[in-house]
Amino acid sequence: MPVSEAREVAWKSLGLHKDPTLEALFAADPDRVEKMSGRLDLGETGILFDWSKTHLTDELIGDFQTLAEASHFDEMRRRLFAGEVVNPTENRAAEHSALRGVGKESSVEEAAALLERMRLLVGAIHEGVLGDVKHLIHVGIGGSALGPALAVDALSRDLALVDVHVVSNIDGCALEQAFEACDPATTLIAVASKTFTTIETMTNAASAVKWLTDNGVEDPSGRVIALTANPEAAVEWGVDETRILPFAESVGGRYSLWSSIGFPIALAIGWEDFSAMLEGAATVDRHFRDAPMSDNLPLRAAFADLYYSRLRGCQTRAVFAYDERLGLFPDYLQQLEMESNGKSVTAEGEPVNGPTAPITWGGVGTDAQHAVFQLLHQGTHIVPIDFIASIAPGDELDPAHHRILLMNCFAQGAALMAGKKSDDPARSYPGDRPSTTILCDDFDAAALGALIAFHEHRTFANAVLMGINPFDQFGVELGKEIAKKIEKGGETFDASTEKLLGLAGLS
Ligand code: F6P
Repeated sequence: MPVSEAREVAWKSLGLHKDPTLEALFAADPDRVEKMSGRLDLGETGILFDWSKTHLTDELIGDFQTLAEASHFDEMRRRLFAGEVVNPTENRAAEHSALRGVGKESSVEEAAALLERMRLLVGAIHEGVLGDVKHLIHVGIGGSALGPALAVDALSRDLALVDVHVVSNIDGCALEQAFEACDPATTLIAVASKTFTTIETMTNAASAVKWLTDNGVEDPSGRVIALTANPEAAVEWGVDETRILPFAESVGGRYSLWSSIGFPIALAIGWEDFSAMLEGAATVDRHFRDAPMSDNLPLRAAFADLYYSRLRGCQTRAVFAYDERLGLFPDYLQQLEMESNGKSVTAEGEPVNGPTAPITWGGVGTDAQHAVFQLLHQGTHIVPIDFIASIAPGDELDPAHHRILLMNCFAQGAALMAGKKSDDPARSYPGDRPSTTILCDDFDAAALGALIAFHEHRTFANAVLMGINPFDQFGVELGKEIAKKIEKGGETFDASTEKLLGLAGLS
């Protein structure tokens, strides 16, 4: 039977499930928490994943496993780690795991050599070989910015070896703010772009070099480091070959923080912690590659995701980190999940048989409780939620801070599930609202690496079960094309756009 038909049959059977309430599921099974949880060991620490407050049951998981078999999950996973083509529309492999040491041997070796080159440059900068370096302005956008921004913010709060400013937006206000915070005499510029053609990045890079020149920095181009899979374009742009840190074409933009795109992370936190982040991710790679379907944590997460998006019609999923250090995690996940799986056709080019990626959104607890949780508890939308927290505190203040933080996190999951009946409808909570808790023993570099890799593989697993290609992103092209046409002039657009262009003096 062709894979699309087998998948269709599996989805039909999934659609026949009754949906007992969470309360009923807990009442029926005293071992539910154990059965619906899994732990990832990261050496001395680890991460617990608790799906017991979702509607997953043994039967549902069994049927999702049937769907995974029908979708050739084992074969797709093998291809991913073997460095074979998993991105058919661009005829490419997706070898981000090779940067973590897991993948096709030759790719792992090549990635290690490129990372070694980066390690040497980072070490040289820390040792002062490039003079006094206090600041780095990292210009990049999308995958060339979101991962670095997240990791730098999460891991270098106590002590940044170099003060990093990630600038992505073409809006000059963003770059001006970085200029304000940096001394040109002690600033390096990293130009991060897989293609080295992205208009926002190249415009920001040119303005950053001009800022160095205008401020009397001798040899401004010697202060520029290029992070790219297109070294030829970087040379052409004027970057010295010794300052180019390349990475492989088979590493996708939104999967690239492990490559030289992670240069600002290593510069801010040091090589040891950067390696720990890679190793945390490698632990997830090995687990995802080797664990059977029944124990596979990213796959289990994908089952829960698809249950809510496809069988319960949930159009969004939310992530709340009860950890200030993960404030940028929802932004990072938005690109990872929505750019990967926001598709309408299968990998074979056929229309998909149901909704694809839900809208990912979120924030930090407890702030979000005082802003958006009203809707989550009493609104008409069911929003599956991931709560992320760390048992060990990140702060050194009175332990009351962390105690209250964690108590609130756990209270929200309990409240969403239990609900509360009241004679007053306005004070009634329906309950039966799902959440997953991801609880780190400690939130360090290894845990961050593991969390990100877990979400990468969860995204891949979702894509396989939906039959779509998560590694292309043609949807971002049309807007870019039209912007170029506007710049070039000579074309007429719809009446609304023409009016706006006229008002802004752009027609
Ligand atoms: O516009 C989307 C995109 O292609 C992303 O996928 C990518 O991460 C981003 O642009 C930046 O691309 P580059 O790293 O080539 O500048």
